[in-house]
Amino acid sequence: MNIRLASLLLDSDLEQWKLFYDYYVEKTKEAFPDDDLLPFEIVKQSYSSQLRDPEKITEIWLVIDSSQEIERCVGCATLSTFRKESPSYKGNEKLVIGTIDLLSNHFKTPSENALVKKTIEFMETLGKEILVLIGGSTRDSKDFFRRLGAKIALSGAENRLYLDNVDWKLVEEWIQNGEQAAIQYGSVLKVFTRVPDEVIETFAETYTETYNEQPMGELDVSTFKFGPEQIRRNEEEISQLGGIKYTAIILEKDGMVSGLTELIVHPDIPFKAYQGLTGVRKQFRGRGYGKWLKAFLLRKTKQSHPKLKYITTGNASTNAPMMSINQRLGFKRYRESHEAQITLQSLRDFAKLSNMEFQ
Ligand SMILES: CC(C)(COP(=O)(O)OP(=O)(O)OC[C@H]1O[C@@H](n2cnc3c(N)ncnc32)[C@H](O)[C@@H]1OP(=O)(O)O)[C@@H](O)C(=O)NCCC(=O)NCCS
Repeated sequence: MNIRLASLLLDSDLEQWKLFYDYYVEKTKEAFPDDDLLPFEIVKQSYSSQLRDPEKITEIWLVIDSSQEIERCVGCATLSTFRKESPSYKGNEKLVIGTIDLLSNHFKTPSENALVKKTIEFMETLGKEILVLIGGSTRDSKDFFRRLGAKIALSGAENRLYLDNVDWKLVEEWIQNGEQAAIQYGSVLKVFTRVPDEVIETFAETYTETYNEQPMGELDVSTFKFGPEQIRRNEEEISQLGGIKYTAIILEKDGMVSGLTELIVHPDIPFKAYQGLTGVRKQFRGRGYGKWLKAFLLRKTKQSHPKLKYITTGNASTNAPMMSINQRLGFKRYRESHEAQITLQSLRDFAKLSNMEFQ
């Protein structure tokens, strides 16, 4: 087989992006035949926004089979590491977060080797030592993690809530209970499509604090910091894409954001919404704020987006309070996901062995 690696760049020509999109379609159909396919522009924009992220150095490598007359992308690695200027750099200096995935019959072939070697090269060039591979949702990727010698450090699932399955009575009950608690404590719930300047500092603090309280399993990662600039950048990326990001917050009397949740919708995929982080600061937990935030935004999105069919979100399986809220709302496991961790040295050992096997 004749293969070559190609770097997918912001200014790559349309042909290269189309090769990548065809791979995305083939991979999705192969792994999850019933799943909805995203349109080309959305896929292109979402990978472009990863490449544009000023806090990270990101490379996307495609492995292209050129043995036939028509070239075809058969696998892809995305590799990303924090730049020194990023607030998240400290503690994560040696970390690379990425994905390595291939069409099913291209695992255990020189294509797999090529992506692993490129990953090693990326890590060596930048002086990185730990690789976290995210999004392992198929048997192939689990087998790959195992062969690689990577440790599954965190397991969870993509969970989906079909609006037809929601217990709307419960939703109303959670909203009412939340409103009662808010009267008692003097808090208010607000929804925005752009977090106002007056609260963005406290919002970013709550975001950082609660994001890092999610279970991280055995991942050797340090604090991920989300400053106001990053929050804004993310909002702008979504709106440039034509999407809407709803953010619901609970605001305390003293001006502190004590809780938040976020939901993203896009007119080109009107049937699907993405639930982002839900977080309530420790001292405000157990008052029903998490349930209130989620129930409130769920009702609002249903009213404003009548074509919406389901909401999708990712959760660690060990996140008991979040799983408890989600299960009661009607979220169901759609597919498992695993995050695996491996050192540069173990990757090198694997590459040495697999060179003998595949060449
Ligand atoms: C998840 C989180 C938002 C919940 O916030 P909260 O305001 O305490 O949530 P609520 O009070 O509305 O509801 C929590 C529910 O979980 C239940 N719960 C809490 N711990 C639980 C456990 N160990 N097992 C089962 N249920 C549990 C509570 O009993 C409560 O339900 P109830 O009021 O009907 O009894 C909060 O814990 C948090 O910010 N965690 C860190 C960030 C995170 O992990 N976010 C989710 C990832 S997206």
